[in-house]
Amino acid sequence: MGRHASRYSFHDLRRDPGSFLDDVAAGLARSQKAIPAKYFYDRRGCELFEAICRLPEYYPTRTEIGLMRSRIGEIAQCLGRRCAVIEYGSGSGRKTRILLEALDPVAYVPVDIAREQLEQSAGAIARAFPRLTVAAVCADYSRPLALPRVDGIGARRRVIYFPGSTIGNFTPSGAAVFLRGARELAGTGGGMLIGVDLRKDPARLNAAYNDARGVTAEFNLNLLARINRELGADFELSAFRHHAFYNVRLGRVEMHLVSLRKQRVTIRSRVFRLRAGETIHTENSYKYSVAGFQALARRAGFKPAACWTDPEQLFAIHYLTVPG
Ligand code: AVI
Repeated sequence: MGRHASRYSFHDLRRDPGSFLDDVAAGLARSQKAIPAKYFYDRRGCELFEAICRLPEYYPTRTEIGLMRSRIGEIAQCLGRRCAVIEYGSGSGRKTRILLEALDPVAYVPVDIAREQLEQSAGAIARAFPRLTVAAVCADYSRPLALPRVDGIGARRRVIYFPGSTIGNFTPSGAAVFLRGARELAGTGGGMLIGVDLRKDPARLNAAYNDARGVTAEFNLNLLARINRELGADFELSAFRHHAFYNVRLGRVEMHLVSLRKQRVTIRSRVFRLRAGETIHTENSYKYSVAGFQALARRAGFKPAACWTDPEQLFAIHYLTVPG
């Protein structure tokens, strides 16, 4: 607790962290080589993602913040007083502060696997809201989760907050499983406030994931740099190129790293071969219409209760409830 108010607690619930090496080796052994997108977020990856969020081409962050600001009165009314807010992921905290200021909840529970980032962001919230119970939980929120016993988490209602359209980084079937877990954690009478990027003109999407300054390219390539640093691999970064495009048929932006030549890569005595032009698939970012996302939420047992979109129809914030 140290420097924080006494209402702050930190709970490390990381179990079986899984193996970075095994996941990378398994992904590179597939016919379509792939590396799970969750590995983007080491310290440098988090910094680069924050920089992406400030780019002129990357509209989701500022659109969602604008929507939160302009509709926060209605949002707070839907969620109601004296709830416990459980946030999946812990970003820069700008959206979180808008929500907490308007809601005045009894508890705030940020859940994130990235310990350092969680400590920083939860600590900052605890200092900014000294009367709020803040229980930071270091855990993988994409897996079933039981919260620690902390006063206030019971509250009148549990509301899960999942901004940023990170739901789009799951496949639709993975998203359905994830939403079912969230519904169970929220419990009957609870809810979920979730930001979801909307389907739109492919040109806008292509620009957002191919920014002129090359920050997204650096974010993508940092994955290989991380594998070199942490697993002692010998990826030559200049032999790969960032490639992102909107796949209209599947409704998703795909990010890949293209091998610029025939090459071999060694990771702890395992050798992987790449042809010139072959790609490593590093991320999917699914985009949903309002109706498409509501159908997914219903399949997971939620009842769509409200939805707010910006005037340009770029982004949606949905409020889902858990019926009895
Ligand atoms: C975290 N996630 C929602 C981002 C997205 O848009 O899918 C990650 C990202 N990848 C490239 N740019 C941003």
